[in-house]
Amino acid sequence: MEKSSAERRIAELSRELELHNHRYYVLARPSITDREFDAMLKELEALEQEFPDLASPNSPTQRVGGDITKGFPTVPHRYPMLSLGNTYSREEVEEFVGRVEKAIGPTRFSMELKYDGVAISLSYRNGELVRGVTRGDGEKGEDITANVRTIRSIPLRLQGDGWPAEFEARGEVIFTKQQFDKLNAKREREGEELYANPRNTAAGTLKQQDPKEVAKRGLDSFMYSLQGEALPTRSHFDNLMRAQQWGFKTPDPARRFIERANDAAGIMAFIDHWGEHRNELEMIIDGVVVKVDDLDVQEELGLTAKSPRWAMAYKYAPEQAVTKLLGVAFQVGRTGAVTPVAELDPVQLAGTTVKRASLFNADQLDRLDLHQGDMVRVEKAGEIIPQVVGVELAKRVHGAHRVRFPHQCPECGTALIRLDGEAQHYCPNEHGCPPQITRRIEHFVSRRAMDIDGLGAETVQEFHDAGLIRDVADLYELTVERILALGKGWKEKSAEKVIAGLARSKQVPFERVLFALGIRHVGETVAKKIARGAMSMERLMAMSREELLGIEEVGEVIAESLIDFFAVPGNQRIVGRLARHGLRMEQDASEGPASDKLKGLSIVVSGVFRNFSRDGIKEAIERNGGKVSGSISSKTSYVVAGEGMGPAKRAKAVELKVPVIDEDELTRMIEG
Ligand code: IVH
Repeated sequence: MEKSSAERRIAELSRELELHNHRYYVLARPSITDREFDAMLKELEALEQEFPDLASPNSPTQRVGGDITKGFPTVPHRYPMLSLGNTYSREEVEEFVGRVEKAIGPTRFSMELKYDGVAISLSYRNGELVRGVTRGDGEKGEDITANVRTIRSIPLRLQGDGWPAEFEARGEVIFTKQQFDKLNAKREREGEELYANPRNTAAGTLKQQDPKEVAKRGLDSFMYSLQGEALPTRSHFDNLMRAQQWGFKTPDPARRFIERANDAAGIMAFIDHWGEHRNELEMIIDGVVVKVDDLDVQEELGLTAKSPRWAMAYKYAPEQAVTKLLGVAFQVGRTGAVTPVAELDPVQLAGTTVKRASLFNADQLDRLDLHQGDMVRVEKAGEIIPQVVGVELAKRVHGAHRVRFPHQCPECGTALIRLDGEAQHYCPNEHGCPPQITRRIEHFVSRRAMDIDGLGAETVQEFHDAGLIRDVADLYELTVERILALGKGWKEKSAEKVIAGLARSKQVPFERVLFALGIRHVGETVAKKIARGAMSMERLMAMSREELLGIEEVGEVIAESLIDFFAVPGNQRIVGRLARHGLRMEQDASEGPASDKLKGLSIVVSGVFRNFSRDGIKEAIERNGGKVSGSISSKTSYVVAGEGMGPAKRAKAVELKVPVIDEDELTRMIEG
């Protein structure tokens, strides 16, 4: 293509992609399919690769994360990032209103939500994002532009018109509760320590060195103010509404995320409303911010040492409960990580009964200085996970023993180790520590791994305790007779089901076998990449550190973990035995069968799948003669639903009487 036409096409694609990005991430009203979006993005990527000097740092292709930044430069803020005076008392809010009115007479206030995230300042020049900076000390912060670019609800180029040539948008970067839960569910599956709360996780994510990693985590944003010399109006509220037109995610008045009032009563009504309903929000808020709406009046009121006289935050007290610490259990996970868990006298907290609370690690235990029988204060961290936040010292029983982190594994007695730079203690006795063994086997048989029917956590425990299994390879040496010999209500039919499930699992693709081994840091996605990069277990076991680092998504930590795993003779033996039992140890080069079994069928796919990547499932359908379609209509033959398929799509399928099937059903249609 001629350079000039490439330039035109790049501009056109960029504009289109920005619009669709905004519709999807800010308005939550997409108007094209993911597939159409991906196709445009691919075209743009190809053009930018061909003409690198036409690639802009604000191109929609940069959302997936650009180059790695080593350390973040510190840059001064053009306008200082102030903090807010805050209070837990309604009277003090009334006093604030009184002070303002006394100084300048009646005025209008804007009330909005106080998002519990990380403050960010975004500089725009001529409608383009030029810089994203953390709050830092308020005077200067860290330049994290590369990471900010990956946040889809932050516009890289502004829409419409009327924006000042130069201004800053300020706001909060957050994780929605749903996204946070999703991240933690993944951590749990991969045997990693859980994140404690969304705010800290957002802060940690923004400071990641690799923007690609940031892009994957799914951060979101809300903008709460504009700064600049030539803002469109002199009303804070109106400016935010303009910012919304330019593509920012700003508080929505229709949802009462922002509202104006002329007096304290109006402000209190807003505070009361969200005091009652804040648990229903998709993000976490810790209060309400009340601001004088008129920018000229704001200026007139001015600042105190650190915070403006024209604004105040009212904070909701986090719900707390005080209860008795019955004991601390030290749980040993699949990877040997030892986590202290407080066992509590059951207590009601923010709508649920809390019986246990994570104490995370030894440092946290030290900070709390827990003693046996203490009365402890429990809070929901970021309103999600219950956490012990303090001790009622006055109620401590005289002579009570301090709770200490053990030096030895509570399950097998092996001396615990703590790796440099890690907060977690580990029991290194991988092959002899009972809970590590059983949890590893549980992981191996789980749905996302080998998916062995008829084998759950309880059965694994039972088989282990009876001496039938000590490792995952032992599973394949089970027989109906040996299971029946256990007695305890085992019937021929259920024993046969287990054996049949095991036999079936020999067809599970190599990438899932790899995931099933439970190698530290090798989750589902990484296992897929490794399987494709190494092609076989034999090759993988022989790969050097450098070769491993050449595989997509494999960094130092994962490479190290793989090498460590395969260096253990016990692990080599298990892998060898699994191979002899006929488990798949090679990546299928053809990636599945080709046929015309789906001929004439129009199929819509939605959600995330266990055995296929998004593109993989589409390719599989097409390879077998089917047509993949982007949206559900009366002509759709099937909808293949994966995890996380949206309720709207499901409802549409039901309405149009289109059968919804899962990926296993699709596989049966292809292979059966
Ligand atoms: S206005 C001078 N509005 O709360 C006023 N701040 O201590 C500047 N925050 O770090 C802040 N939601 O990041 C404002 N709707 C909101 C907010 C908000 C959250 C954060 C902000 C700042 C802290 C204030």
